[in-house]
Amino acid sequence: MYSRRDAIKTAVAMPALLAAQSANDTIRVAVIGVGNRGSYLLRTLLKIPGIRVIAICDLDPERLEKAAAAVSATGARPATYTDFRKMLDERKDIDATVIATPVDTHKMIGINALEVGHNVYCEKPMASTPADVRLLASAAKSAKGIFQAGFQLRHDPARRRAMDFIHSGGIGKVLFLQGYRHTGDLPRDTPWYFDRNRSGDNIVEQACHIIDLFVWTTGKHPLRAFGSGGINLFKDVPPGRTTMDNYAVIYEFPDDVRLEFSHIYFDPPGFSGIKERVYGANGAIDLPTATWIEREKKGEIKLDVPNAGQDPGLLALAAFFDNARGHKQPLNNAGSAALSTLVAMMGRKSIYEKRVVTWEEMS
Ligand SMILES: NC(=O)c1ccc[n+]([C@@H]2O[C@H](COP(=O)([O-])OP(=O)(O)OC[C@H]3O[C@@H](n4cnc5c(N)ncnc54)[C@H](O)[C@@H]3O)[C@@H](O)[C@H]2O)c1
Repeated sequence: MYSRRDAIKTAVAMPALLAAQSANDTIRVAVIGVGNRGSYLLRTLLKIPGIRVIAICDLDPERLEKAAAAVSATGARPATYTDFRKMLDERKDIDATVIATPVDTHKMIGINALEVGHNVYCEKPMASTPADVRLLASAAKSAKGIFQAGFQLRHDPARRRAMDFIHSGGIGKVLFLQGYRHTGDLPRDTPWYFDRNRSGDNIVEQACHIIDLFVWTTGKHPLRAFGSGGINLFKDVPPGRTTMDNYAVIYEFPDDVRLEFSHIYFDPPGFSGIKERVYGANGAIDLPTATWIEREKKGEIKLDVPNAGQDPGLLALAAFFDNARGHKQPLNNAGSAALSTLVAMMGRKSIYEKRVVTWEEMS
């Protein structure tokens, strides 16, 4: 169970992480998938001391070449592969693998990397189907290496501080959770985003981040979900689109706690934004800003945030290498990531089947 002492410990431990990673215990890293997210992760991990990228894999030779050039600029010479199985077979010197490929490939690539003993950082969500989520989580449980999922918002200093405050009882009993993600549409040049069989649809591929924060808040799975959604504006845009452009879902958690979440992709830029807010008996807190308003008092209080403004992606990767070195259970472990992904899938099932879905149906 996550205690107040853990909360304080993790809050002060973070800044030391980067400095503590020395070149003496270098971790040899492979990156699989260097598209949008993978190239960001690659650039970011090049900033972490004690890390050496020795291999890169992508199906796309152009992306592969670009990624290899970025690593070569630091003086290293990574091997390049278009077939991840060949890379795993040939390179027995890899300690850790970072996976940033489309969602429907996470299970296959993740399990293969775990089976050869690697520490694995795999992008969120765990997978695109409940069966694949369970297979990957189960492989992670029995693996020699550690598994950390790319739910990096748990490493965002402000959200982490807000969560410590909630878990230490600062807002009183948690009563209600509210979130939305209202944006323009996803980039049209990445076809798999719009294929629900590949991405798991937007509630799984995109909203899983915010859902993960609320599952972290309650520490529990919901009892039931009801949602509604569809494609209202972008019908067949891009051609063949099967992912929703809007939906809303309500989850009922134990202890009479409700989560209301909506997601739309046709928001005009002026109104766009995200909300992650937790209401308690004593007031409410905004997670991205760690701003807390007490019910009986006027005015908002910004909590002191250690490491405010630091990049959550960098902090998450630094934590991954620290966890790999110490063989420690990550904050974003396979169990928590599987739970959050399944909660997103519970909402998806309710939307697709137009009925209330219970947690028992997900297990
Ligand atoms: N944590 C975050 O904030 C965040 C942000 C964006 C994306 N993501 C996640 O990162 C992952 C990748 O998303 P993206 O936006 O970078 O997609 P992308 O399409 O831009 O990149 C995926 C890359 O994987 C490569 N690839 C596909 N199959 C492969 C295989 N079998 N072997 C090797 N390479 C393969 C593709 O060629 C491509 O270059 C997804 O899981 C996505 O949900 C996470």
